Amino acid sequence: MSSKPGVGQHGDQDGVPGGGVLIVDFGAQYCQLIARRVRELGVYSRITVPERAMFTFAAMRPKAVILSGGPRSVYEHDAPALDAAILQQGVPVLGICYGLQWIAQHTGGEVTPAQSGAEYGRTALQVVDAQGFLHGVRENGIVWMSHGDKVSRLPAGFRVLAKSEPCPFAVVADTARGIYGLQFHPEVAHTQDGQRLLQNFVLAIAKCERDWVPGHIVERKVNAVKELVGEHGEVVLGLSGGVDSSVAAVIIHRAIGRRLHCVFVDNGLLRTGERAGVEQLFAQDHKMDVKVVDASERFLGELRGVTDPEQKRKNVGRVFVEVFRAEAKTLRNAKFLGQGTLYPDVIESVAAHGGATAVIKSHHNVGGLPKDLDMTLVEPLRDLFKDEVRALGRQLGLPPSLVDRQPFPGPGLAVRCLGEVTRDKLAALRAADAIVREETEAGGHQKRLWQYFAVYVPQKTVGVKGDARVYEDVCVLRFVSSQDAMTADWETLPVEAMRRISSRILNEVKGFARVCLDVSSKPPATIEWE
Ligand code: XMP
Repeated sequence: MSSKPGVGQHGDQDGVPGGGVLIVDFGAQYCQLIARRVRELGVYSRITVPERAMFTFAAMRPKAVILSGGPRSVYEHDAPALDAAILQQGVPVLGICYGLQWIAQHTGGEVTPAQSGAEYGRTALQVVDAQGFLHGVRENGIVWMSHGDKVSRLPAGFRVLAKSEPCPFAVVADTARGIYGLQFHPEVAHTQDGQRLLQNFVLAIAKCERDWVPGHIVERKVNAVKELVGEHGEVVLGLSGGVDSSVAAVIIHRAIGRRLHCVFVDNGLLRTGERAGVEQLFAQDHKMDVKVVDASERFLGELRGVTDPEQKRKNVGRVFVEVFRAEAKTLRNAKFLGQGTLYPDVIESVAAHGGATAVIKSHHNVGGLPKDLDMTLVEPLRDLFKDEVRALGRQLGLPPSLVDRQPFPGPGLAVRCLGEVTRDKLAALRAADAIVREETEAGGHQKRLWQYFAVYVPQKTVGVKGDARVYEDVCVLRFVSSQDAMTADWETLPVEAMRRISSRILNEVKGFARVCLDVSSKPPATIEWE
């Protein structure tokens, strides 16, 4: 039997307001960005695939629809199919790039390949009509285009609101029918006034309510959990100390108090202070029921002799499930399973369903739970993006050290301790990692970094400590900046901070004779070393 859907799984029923903006994903690279930009305006948005658009529309009753861009051409025979009835639902529709071409094709216009081939990059916008949709948008502002086709004949009823050098129909509208189109991407940061355009569409034209704000979201989520779990239901939740499970736990705790049972598994692969921090914050400060299970012996036992990175991840993932399952069984009244699942994990997207995405590392096997626990899921963050979860965390009074915490992989230090994972190597890595964190945070450098950590590389190298020659291992420092971990740039700290980190590691930590800096971007390197 599989886990049953619970809170948040049908967004329209659980803690999510009606209205908002429905975004139809034609396979756009930037689709999630559109959704986030709309939410930054305080308006709920939800992404769906073309085939389910009318169904989702009926369930959600949005106040506006945005049709995204996409990599295809509208005249390919297997181009994404969307029911043209979406244009007749009585709510404004905005087509972006492919979305605009789809609109043109379905309302009597014409789409052809751009004459000069594909048009990519920046161009200046010449505003023709500065009212309404373009209100407040500057003349000659830069907009970002990326398209191979373009609308070559406007459908009847449409007017040009702005053009650009290569593109006579950069912004068009049929205001009588409430249909708008952009041949460029308003959601990307390179487009000046892009957010203003979205704001004009979402707030001024579609008149969406700005009720997607942390205070309201928390209240709705707490009520939805109460309703789902009922007056006597009990929930078990695996607390990792990360942002997602922590925020989910606090919301569920607000709803049902000590009928929430948190399980924190100490796998022996944690960083300095992590276990104590979780106990202090949740058990002491928030008065939550937290059981700490020390399973480090078991995890380290399962990692003995294992050097293959994938095997390490799999072993850690398997043992976690076994330990958690055994704990959940002792809580016989708990029929609900709390999880900090986020929107990007469950989004209905063309890329996720249709594209072949290579498995680079078996991330999501680790820290995830099997579907056969036969419990009803309670996932209050299921329709939230990470930055929204952070905002909720702040609203709930969680400390910045937790809310703004850098990501830490489920398999923990195991993937930063190359070769076999041993207690001695872990101790050295933990000490070096603590120094990296301390020095980075002391200078406030973490604010511009996505992650900052140490890696244990078991490569013997010669050094001199005191008067003696030593033959010890390498500690690599990794600082990266990133938006979403899909790509990342290598970073460094000011020389003084680097000097301090290096000298402290070499002097204070036993086991390292050399400290190096990783200067690899992702791709082709990954952020973690394994
Ligand atoms: P990579 O190494 O693939 O990592 O560039 C991308 C991001 O994911 C984090 N990461 C994980 N997170 N479980 C997680 O929850 C995992 O197994 C895992 N592996 C990597 C990594 O820290 C980075 O932020």
